[in-house]
Amino acid sequence: MSKPKVFVTRRIPDAGIDLLAQTAEVTVNPEDRTLSRAELLAAVADCQGVIGLLTERIDAEFFDAAPQLKGYANYAVGYDNIDVAEATRRAIPVSNTPGVLTDATAECAWALLFAAARRVVEADRVMRSGDWQGWGPLQFLGQGVRGKTLGIVGAGRIGTAMALMSRGFDMPVLYTSSSGRRNAVLEDRLDARLVPFETLLAEADFISIHAPLTPDTRHLFNAAAFARMKPTACLVNTSRGPVIKEDDLVQALKDGVIAGAGLDVFEREPAMADGLAGLENAVVLPHIGSATIESRTDMATLAARNMLAMLAGQRPETCLNP
Ligand code: DGY
Repeated sequence: MSKPKVFVTRRIPDAGIDLLAQTAEVTVNPEDRTLSRAELLAAVADCQGVIGLLTERIDAEFFDAAPQLKGYANYAVGYDNIDVAEATRRAIPVSNTPGVLTDATAECAWALLFAAARRVVEADRVMRSGDWQGWGPLQFLGQGVRGKTLGIVGAGRIGTAMALMSRGFDMPVLYTSSSGRRNAVLEDRLDARLVPFETLLAEADFISIHAPLTPDTRHLFNAAAFARMKPTACLVNTSRGPVIKEDDLVQALKDGVIAGAGLDVFEREPAMADGLAGLENAVVLPHIGSATIESRTDMATLAARNMLAMLAGQRPETCLNP
């Protein structure tokens, strides 16, 4: 019996490919770049399985281009790139990679929080420029972290992990919940308070966004939201770029409406909003939240296990279809 064909849209860690290759005929995009839409649709034409990225739209057109498809595995936890309802209508299972990148992404949020609070990147740039003239009492004054209020927008797996990591800094924690459901872990272990979004904006010194991108969260952070924040506040985003209206953020950072931002994700990746690159009070990373060797390897093996289950006609471990 011939092996099922699986296309992987960009090279992922070998552990995942090796696992898949025991059962499937695997083709990996040989280019180290995102495929164009036309290339992607052509590549999946005779495939029974596809492992793809958050940068690819998995929609009716994609499913039409892959008529033999038995399953699609997203190499990401976020799945705003997938039309899950359309997949379900066609009885095609789709999966994501939750759980295995929780700590990596939460740690990245902390890296951004500290970098923004203590102006780490700006100070590093001055050292490298050769312009530093020696220690000065008023140089690079930033925001202290201990005892400050942390606001978590979206207290799911990653938001919860990020909040729990605050314990060494004695931070009061506020969180929002789109469902209104309480987070027992945060309340029991941190005495965290579930508050309305407006309260979190007004009271938090550091706000970390962990909400998925949905019609409700698109541009949740806009000029009106920034105006409610403290002028000393820093905003961190490791979720999805469009949760922030990036042009409004640039203006808020320019005008001192808020003090700083640490961003791992952008509204129109790989581009940044005009003016963002020139702002000293913004720390910007190229979407590396899950980029640890451990997480990216675990994402690969989880995506591969999901794919093997789907090829066998079984429900994948982390299925997105209802
Ligand atoms: C995800 O998994 O959704 C991240 O954005 C990339 O790992």
